[in-house]
Amino acid sequence: TRGPGHGQARRISTEVVVQGQSQAAGGEEADSEVSARIKTFTEVQAEGLEQAQKTVLISYPTGISKKSILQYLSHHGRINSYFFYKGHGHHAMVEFSEKESVGSLQDVAQIAGSSVPGIPFKSRLFTLTPRQSLGQALDETSIPDYQHPTIPMEDLVQKLCCADSISNQLYSLLNEHQLTEENMKLRFLACSLIQDLARAYFPECVVKPFGSSVSTFGKLGCDLDMFLDFDEIGKSPTPKKTGPFHVEYQIKRMPSERAATQKILSVIGECIANFSPGCTHIQKILDARCPLMRFFHQPTGFHCDLTANNRIALRSSELLYIYGNFDSRVRALVFGIRCWARTHGITSSTSGPWITNFSLTMMVLFFLQKRKPPILPTLAELKNLADAEDKHVIGGHDCTFVSNLNKINQTENTETLDVLLNEFFEYFGNFDFGSKSINVREGKEHSKPEPSPLYIQNPFEQTLNISANVNQNQLDRFVALARECAWILQQVNQDHGQGGKQPWGLAAILVPPVIGSKKKMAKSMLTSARLKALLDSLRADIANKKGERAFS
Ligand code: GTP
Ligand code: MG
Repeated sequence: TRGPGHGQARRISTEVVVQGQSQAAGGEEADSEVSARIKTFTEVQAEGLEQAQKTVLISYPTGISKKSILQYLSHHGRINSYFFYKGHGHHAMVEFSEKESVGSLQDVAQIAGSSVPGIPFKSRLFTLTPRQSLGQALDETSIPDYQHPTIPMEDLVQKLCCADSISNQLYSLLNEHQLTEENMKLRFLACSLIQDLARAYFPECVVKPFGSSVSTFGKLGCDLDMFLDFDEIGKSPTPKKTGPFHVEYQIKRMPSERAATQKILSVIGECIANFSPGCTHIQKILDARCPLMRFFHQPTGFHCDLTANNRIALRSSELLYIYGNFDSRVRALVFGIRCWARTHGITSSTSGPWITNFSLTMMVLFFLQKRKPPILPTLAELKNLADAEDKHVIGGHDCTFVSNLNKINQTENTETLDVLLNEFFEYFGNFDFGSKSINVREGKEHSKPEPSPLYIQNPFEQTLNISANVNQNQLDRFVALARECAWILQQVNQDHGQGGKQPWGLAAILVPPVIGSKKKMAKSMLTSARLKALLDSLRADIANKKGERAFS
């Protein structure tokens, strides 16, 4: 095993109790081989989407016993897993063993007549109301509501202070922030519900999650990136003998692939806006380099970005998935650095000249490739290990790399995360950003092909820079803060164990220390850097009115 924290790659084994019986979710035997190794990205996607299609989301009023809901639903079929949660009202996510059970429930569901007219769309979102008043709710305590764990920063810092090494601090942070199985299930469900709508137009399309939701680097609360995949429709069948004629579909022609994507997203977006229950705040951002539809999916609580024709981004997510699962230190370090960057305003939830989480993750991966011996293989090495079925060329770009993690030799590097965190800041605090670019494909720096302040070569579209949006001010801040943090880490590490109450290690760089003159100095440096950041970013924001996400 590669240590703790495999996140989504772990087998989901939700225990459910329905009508007094306990059963483990999922088929056992058929999966035994798969569970012995880490699943491939494709397997995780396929499993998540398949489960999501057997899932319904029930909303119900206060006062109904959860057991009675489960008992009622189990008349429609065996329940594989479920959980209850509070979002906009009370919800139950219920996954059946068979897809037919969803149909069975749809058969008894009514389009409620009410004074307010509605769109008669049969979704998998249902409301359950008791036919007659049920009196006192039963067994409410026996099935607790699931809650996405959220820990306020102060509590997190306190918790981190109790750990006995930076390594354990980083794993602790990872445990607090990583996506839970329930959260993952909701993400797949949200995609599957949007897919139901999109299939009204394109019956074979698939809506897949990508980005941090599935790359193993997702933090609770991160957006849900969705990808409308037409690959199945586009695939030509093996040529059949059709007599003397070649048969072809007549299709609507568009001036460009981009125009086609814009049109599709625009129409599906209208459909989501007009017909989908629970989708609000719809924004069409069709002029961005990567056109997208943004909306809020109220029942699951996710901010969603729907794109189409974005296969390279899906491959990027798979590459991150490979790296994230390769060695347990990778995710722990990435989560730590992402959290540090967010705390100091290096990354931001709005678009602009900031370093993005995606770029920052690439920087961590590059740093780990540069260790001696390397902790991570280069993309070129991953390509050399690829099978025939791993071969992917998308729009002329080579996106080939191995998908089976077992084929990659484990690293001989045994450095602790205590060392790696400090070295990360040292490394980038002294990196020659002025003349060098970061290249994850080769695992080495190259001369910058053009003068962007930060140049991180897109691993697949190799002539592009994924951090082209970053301005010099933001890069300077990153470097200054990296240097400060390297210094703080060295200082406070010496103090660790002397009293034990002071923030130290990771905690010290997440919240600047307040006691002691050196530490006060560090605090004021960090605070002034933050103020400067705010001003820089405001200026940059004005200069950069275009504001949409800068995809390369
Ligand atoms: P968070 O949402 O911040 O947690 O991270 P994320 O990795 O999901 O980033 P984001 O939602 O911004 O983008 C989703 C995916 O789009 C990323 O994982 C990448 O695959 C891709 N992507 C994002 N930004 C860029 C970019 O600048 N260039 C390229 N080529 N792809 C990008
Ligand atoms: Mg995202």
